[in-house]
Amino acid sequence: MNVPVSVTWQDGRLTILDQQKLPHVTEFIELETIEDVYDAILALNVRGAPAIGITAAYGLALAAARHGTDELDAFEALVRNDAAYLAGSRPTAVNLAWALERLLGTLPNARSVADAKERLVAEAEAIRAEDEAACRKIGEYGLELLEGKTRIMTICNAGSIATAKYGTALAPFHLGSERGRAFEVFACETRPVYQGSRLTVWELQQSGVDVTLITDSMAAHTIGAKGIEAIIVGADRIAANGDTANKIGTLNLAILAQAFGIPFYVAAPVSTFDLSLENGQDIPIEERKAEELTHFGKAPIAPEATAVYNPAFDVTPSDYITAIITEKGIIEPDFSQNIPRLLAAAAGR
Ligand code: MRU
Repeated sequence: MNVPVSVTWQDGRLTILDQQKLPHVTEFIELETIEDVYDAILALNVRGAPAIGITAAYGLALAAARHGTDELDAFEALVRNDAAYLAGSRPTAVNLAWALERLLGTLPNARSVADAKERLVAEAEAIRAEDEAACRKIGEYGLELLEGKTRIMTICNAGSIATAKYGTALAPFHLGSERGRAFEVFACETRPVYQGSRLTVWELQQSGVDVTLITDSMAAHTIGAKGIEAIIVGADRIAANGDTANKIGTLNLAILAQAFGIPFYVAAPVSTFDLSLENGQDIPIEERKAEELTHFGKAPIAPEATAVYNPAFDVTPSDYITAIITEKGIIEPDFSQNIPRLLAAAAGR
């Protein structure tokens, strides 16, 4: 797989692939302060639920390393403050809060500030490594589920650069490419930020996957005209009953899948589940700035002062979902029973 790694930590330095510059410029940015980390997440220089979690984890470790106090309680208070700040950068992807909580969970065992700093880095590295392994496993399960199917539709970018490696929804295509398994992927451009055309198309091309770009509004026609056999998407947060928040436009595809009688798959690591939410009603939906709709780059494409509604995510009710592919196995309905069961088994309970 010939796709650059999106988040790297080396010798205490945090570097991200600038996803705002792709596909024409492959540039990396070093994040030197906690403010840099916050701004990079907010401005989508790094994006995708797992990659956001990994970046925030390293960002917290980076900020913690700079705190001068030797007093453990004071240090913990500073780190908790940093975590709250980073958690506020984007609201929908639960991986962000999940990763920060995991780092905070290491602090009570620390014997000194120096030990606490090391534990934070080690936990961030564990999160990154676990995500890479999880995505590879999701790819394996995805290949099983897509057996006998070739023409697949996706939206947004749930690929390698949205995770530690391989991606979630795109993992079966990357693994398939390594193994000589040919797919024809139809990628929705994903307005307004074009994660589909800029990132998914580019990323699959790097892997030698046959990928065709369509606008979001072409999805219904394309399913019929091109004989799409399944739809696969990523997730930013999955409630206990399987309701799934993902990039705006995902719900449209789920409804289309049902209308056309094709399967609709969600691919996500267990870190994307939020069992504190019974259903998707309470998932916070990020609203982004009006310029994403009123401008194309810097050029205006709408009258000045146009009223804009720009939700970045929608929630697909679990009734539309055929199966959820995780690294711990494939979850089928009844989701309300099967999700807690699988997560409890995964946690060894
Ligand atoms: O706003 P983004 O680009 O961060 O949204 C990302 C998505 O919706 C992805 O499909 C989702 O996070 C899954 S990433 C593996």
